[in-house]
Amino acid sequence: MNDTFLRACRGEKTDYTPVWLMRQAGRYLPEYQKVRAKVDFLTLCKTPELAAEVTIQPVDILKVDAAILFSDILVPIEPMGMKLEFSESKGPILYDPIRKEVDVLKLRTIKAQEDVPFVIEAIKILLSKLNVPLIGFSGAPFTLATYMIEGGSSKNFVNTKKMMFQAPELYSRLMDKITDTVIDYLQAQIDAGVHAIQVFDSWAGILSPVDFENYALPYVQRIIKTFKGRLPVIYFAFNGSAMLDTIKKSGADVLGLDWRINIADAIKIIGNDVAVQGNLDPCTLLGSRDLIKDRVERILNGSKQAKGHIFNLGHGILPEIPPENAISMVEAVHELSLK
Ligand code: CP3
Repeated sequence: MNDTFLRACRGEKTDYTPVWLMRQAGRYLPEYQKVRAKVDFLTLCKTPELAAEVTIQPVDILKVDAAILFSDILVPIEPMGMKLEFSESKGPILYDPIRKEVDVLKLRTIKAQEDVPFVIEAIKILLSKLNVPLIGFSGAPFTLATYMIEGGSSKNFVNTKKMMFQAPELYSRLMDKITDTVIDYLQAQIDAGVHAIQVFDSWAGILSPVDFENYALPYVQRIIKTFKGRLPVIYFAFNGSAMLDTIKKSGADVLGLDWRINIADAIKIIGNDVAVQGNLDPCTLLGSRDLIKDRVERILNGSKQAKGHIFNLGHGILPEIPPENAISMVEAVHELSLK
């Protein structure tokens, strides 16, 4: 197996900088659309053979150095007891959002082996086929809580913050239940054989640093402590560049960075005892080959002082990106970083 990605996560020397893309399996690939035309998104997540097929597509097409399991952060929410739907126009919908004590009480903490066996099955298929490491993942408790409390995506997250500030005890009971579920869910993926895990905190950046530290970080710390030392753990707090010193306290081996900070400045704040992952603006891939190459080179140059660097986008790739530009990016990372 090509273990360049895992070596970089651990801060070991590598021949070149490994690269993968968040959301690398997805609608920008015609090959994904072909599979997706036959089934809806949730069915795709729940059909191990198809989930495995689309997981492998970007590895073959883009030649990335890691695969990420095809699923969604909201998949374990359904067995907790909420009806989940992915609407083409509105994105994810969670029915009967969690607002009151009875809502929190009726939520179950899942047993992944029984509740999401298709995830375990997809991992097993993938391990027999992949020649690069497989990343398992989960949403972070705060990000999952926003979807559960708002009932979907949100603009100002008023209901989430209302519970945080008006009913902090209820909020912490909800967060404890979600955290227990996340730990069981990641444990099941690790037992099935994933080589690294990433915790996605897509909405961490809507919190002030003090509220992030009080209402989101402790739960992430509990998760990371559970798995620390067993396999590389990546923590990605989107829009978190203004609170990297606090994010570092998560204890993760690798911190994901979005594009709003120069990677060299981020490394100065974080120090050289954790590795970094990032941080190209996904929309750079709408530019010319030369522009892409230039921005890749800047990030590679800026990351020299890091303990380890995994090249990635600063957030998920978008459906509008031409696949050939994503291929150019991966080629540029491999060529320009070759030692
Ligand atoms: O990275 C990968 O290739 C693995 C698969 C993956 C998906 N979602 C597939 C997906 C991963 C790791 C995720 C994580 C995820 N899902 C996050 C965290 C990362 C981030 O983007 O911040 C979040 C917030 C979600 C929730 C979610 N899922 C939303 C808001 C949406 C709708 C918006 C959109 O992009 O369509 C989804 C749907 C989704 N998840 C799709 C894919 C490929 C598109 C579904 C389709 O095929 O129609």
